[in-house]
Amino acid sequence: MARLDGHVAIITGAATGMGAATATRFVEEGARVLIADLKVDEGQELALHLGENARFLRTDVTQESNIEAMFDLALAAWGQIDCVYNNAGFGGALGPIEETTEDDYEITMDVLVKSVFFGTKHAAKHMKERGGSIINTASIAGMHGGWGPHIYSVAKAAVVQLTKTTALELGPFGIRVNAICPGIIATPLAMGRGDREKFDAVMAEDQPLKRVGEGSDIANLALFLASDESSFMTGETHVIDGGATVGRRWDQQPKFQTVYRPITIYRPPGR
Ligand SMILES: NC(=O)c1ccc[n+]([C@@H]2O[C@H](COP(=O)([O-])OP(=O)(O)OC[C@H]3O[C@@H](n4cnc5c(N)ncnc54)[C@H](O)[C@@H]3O)[C@@H](O)[C@H]2O)c1
Repeated sequence: MARLDGHVAIITGAATGMGAATATRFVEEGARVLIADLKVDEGQELALHLGENARFLRTDVTQESNIEAMFDLALAAWGQIDCVYNNAGFGGALGPIEETTEDDYEITMDVLVKSVFFGTKHAAKHMKERGGSIINTASIAGMHGGWGPHIYSVAKAAVVQLTKTTALELGPFGIRVNAICPGIIATPLAMGRGDREKFDAVMAEDQPLKRVGEGSDIANLALFLASDESSFMTGETHVIDGGATVGRRWDQQPKFQTVYRPITIYRPPGR
């Protein structure tokens, strides 16, 4: 038996990147998946590729009416909803704070937070009878400084907190809510206009595991969180970053090398 046999999942931002990798993994494991995204060509192509267990709906997650429509379609097609993965996102406004406009602020918060809020609201309505799993994409930028621009980081911190407050409210109904905090993952969002080779060369070195993340790394975690294997897990923030936020080995940091060079084992006198 596959790990998501009989499950129905809605995944936002699933036309590309980690959402697309997750949609693919979920279908491989027996789920029926609604791919909800603004990108029509990529979304339709992926749904076609995945076959009869995938559907695509053009969705703007900043509009509550669009979010409602994706629930309506999944219910009409498959009669139930077991997992909602609020994953759509973008980098948002990048510049210095003095140059950030009200519009920059609003669109960034709408795409990254309002979408998760209303995705969770409608998931709760439909899952209260049978339970289910809600997964939210946050980021290491929502937990630590230095990993993303201002509004993006604020928005992802809000997603972490919304995951906790809704987990408390929805737990009694058998609805689990968990957040995934990816590190550097090789997707169109993170790579920008750069090519893969350049991206790897710059980013991998910084990771304790000496590689960047793949969409499939996130898909495997999402699969676990969607499945009954994680049935006692809720309100948690799951960091998946190759160890990037653990820190840097002290003896490889220039300041320690300078002060303590040569770094030798200290033995107390007489030992
Ligand atoms: N790639 C990384 O390194 C990284 C790290 C931490 C968090 N994240 C988060 O992961 C999530 C997925 O991003 P990704 O890296 O796979 O990038 P991606 O660009 O491949 O995927 C994001 C998808 O979201 C869609 N989207 C954007 N705005 C939308 C809207 N208003 N309505 C519907 N769909 C919309 C895009 O069309 C795109 O297909 C995002 O929330 C992002 O913030 C990414």
